Amino acid sequence: MIQFLLNQELRSEHALDPNLTVLNYLREHLAKSGTKEGCASGDCGACTVVVGELHTDDQGAEQIRYRSLNSCLTFVSSLHGKQLISVEDLKHQGQLHSVQQAMVECHGSQCGFCTPGFVMSLFALQKNSDAPDSQKAHEALAGNLCRCTGYRPILAAAEQACCNKPQDQFDSRQADTIARLKAIAPTQT
Ligand code: FES
Ligand code: FES
Repeated sequence: MIQFLLNQELRSEHALDPNLTVLNYLREHLAKSGTKEGCASGDCGACTVVVGELHTDDQGAEQIRYRSLNSCLTFVSSLHGKQLISVEDLKHQGQLHSVQQAMVECHGSQCGFCTPGFVMSLFALQKNSDAPDSQKAHEALAGNLCRCTGYRPILAAAEQACCNKPQDQFDSRQADTIARLKAIAPTQT
């Protein structure tokens, strides 16, 4: 059995195809089509999601470490004990997340196909850095391709989102999320 948090919802999966990717799980099993399929081979970043994992820092404090990954290359089985966050989970109480708002205000989207992937990479960047220099922002977005907007507005959105980051629902629920992740028993192999 695989157990993980889908945002805040505990999912217990018993009979999934071991080859099922997170991308197909979201789109075909859960009808969450915000996460896009572009290349299906790890090249374009349209399928980017964020995974939160328990982490203990140098002072022994428990926290959640967020990282972006390509859902087209990730099997659902690897999510055991983790939190899966997709683009549908960012908007909260009718308000866009600050990274989404930054993309709007900086005109970082045209056709929009790449946008959910960029938004999730920006979300992971925002969670992991207060004031990223441009090299760090470039690295965070290096796996995302856009064929119509151009990258300068998206980099401006990265700067805005990281320099001005209000507390979000993930921050305010962090203690609860840590407790729920710890409650998921380790897999016995
Ligand atoms: S669909 Fe292109 S990287 Fe996943
Ligand atoms: S906005 Fe069209 S591919 Fe990026």
